[in-house]
Amino acid sequence: MINLILFGPPGSGKGTQAAKLLKKYKLIHISTGDLFRFNLKNNTPLGLEAKKYIDKGELVPDAVTINMLTEKVNEHPDAKGFIFDGFPRNVHQSEALDALLKSKGSAVSALISLDVDDEELVKRLLERGKTSGRKDDSDESIIRNRLKVYYNETTPVFDYYEKTGKSVKVNGVGTLLAVFRRLCKLMNKL
Ligand code: C5P
Ligand code: MG
Repeated sequence: MINLILFGPPGSGKGTQAAKLLKKYKLIHISTGDLFRFNLKNNTPLGLEAKKYIDKGELVPDAVTINMLTEKVNEHPDAKGFIFDGFPRNVHQSEALDALLKSKGSAVSALISLDVDDEELVKRLLERGKTSGRKDDSDESIIRNRLKVYYNETTPVFDYYEKTGKSVKVNGVGTLLAVFRRLCKLMNKL
């Protein structure tokens, strides 16, 4: 199995690149943010719970997120592998993911982090907010809080996988295709 964590701050292009990667490498794309938004749109209890956090740019409690992710992974027993997008968001979630994959006789293959500077991220997210209908993309103070949460809680995930030599950074600035080519170079080594 190839299990890729597509990593990086909000607005770094994880979703966009995942959509291209899953086609080329026939992997299952799991975006926890998209799963939350799907639940939100359908007014499920999970969506209503998550909304409290998403609207502030905070992290949904680990137990909720990990259960949701586990269910999704278990829906695909025959998968060739997964692209995890927006998960894990902290070290506790990383440990849960490792345990889940281990129970399937597998492991994280690599973590690829898309490198984009803050001002470019804010610009991209505000632009996306004009059409995404996402409240958390439309308000600069929520965007800045998401970045703060990313640097405080999520960047330790990079260091966590770096200990086993799995973390790598890629320049996330450039055209969609230029960034995709950089990612493919790394994917082809897995
Ligand atoms: O990944 P994405 O940027 O789409 O996530 C949007 C929001 O969903 C985050 O700001 C956060 O509130 C919530 N989220 C979370 N835990 C995750 C993924 C997303 O709390 N693992
Ligand atoms: Mg996304």
